[in-house]
Amino acid sequence: MSVDAQGGVCQDAFRRVMGHLPTGVTIVAATSAGERHGMTANTVTSVSLDPVMLLVCLVRGSRTARAVRESRAFSVNVLRHDQEAISHRFACRGVDHFEGLDVVDGPRDLPRLPGCLAFVCCRVEDVMAAGDHDIVLGEVEHCEAAGGDALVFFQGAYLRVSCDAAAGGSTWSG
Ligand SMILES: Cc1cc2nc3c(=O)[nH]c(=O)nc-3n(C[C@H](O)[C@H](O)[C@H](O)COP(=O)(O)O)c2cc1C
Repeated sequence: MSVDAQGGVCQDAFRRVMGHLPTGVTIVAATSAGERHGMTANTVTSVSLDPVMLLVCLVRGSRTARAVRESRAFSVNVLRHDQEAISHRFACRGVDHFEGLDVVDGPRDLPRLPGCLAFVCCRVEDVMAAGDHDIVLGEVEHCEAAGGDALVFFQGAYLRVSCDAAAGGSTWSG
């Protein structure tokens, strides 16, 4: 049944239906008051080319959403096909996601995970409340990509996507 008690679409149905949209998997991270925070996020979308912008939707009240609001900056680490364990780790609530991980600081001290497919740093341009999430709009200050296969999330499962043309890497900084 996809209808809730008030006649609206129920959350489970919405989740299941949206699970049919394959997405990449990222770790969105920020450093606030000297502490790193990060979460698995698949709601990253590019928004604008002039200026260069992207958005991510973060559940309000999460540690990462708070750190992004406070520090006004965040990084997006796009996971490679062999980083499913990282996705699980950063989706666990209430644990220190960074413990024992080999993380380095990128621009603005933003956490950078080793071995990712792509790395993007943003300055927070705006935060808009939308239901139980914050839509965080970021102006991209740095982005780079390495070659490799992608980790994709589809109907609750992790898949590997390969592309012959994806071998090369690139870096851009604003
Ligand atoms: C594949 C996947 C994608 C996710 N995408 C998002 C997302 O885009 N936004 C979000 O708020 N939570 C998302 N989550 C859930 C968060 O990763 C999870 O709530 C996390 O524990 C929050 O961490 P924090 O409370 O330490 O910030 C996703 C989880 C998975 C497994």
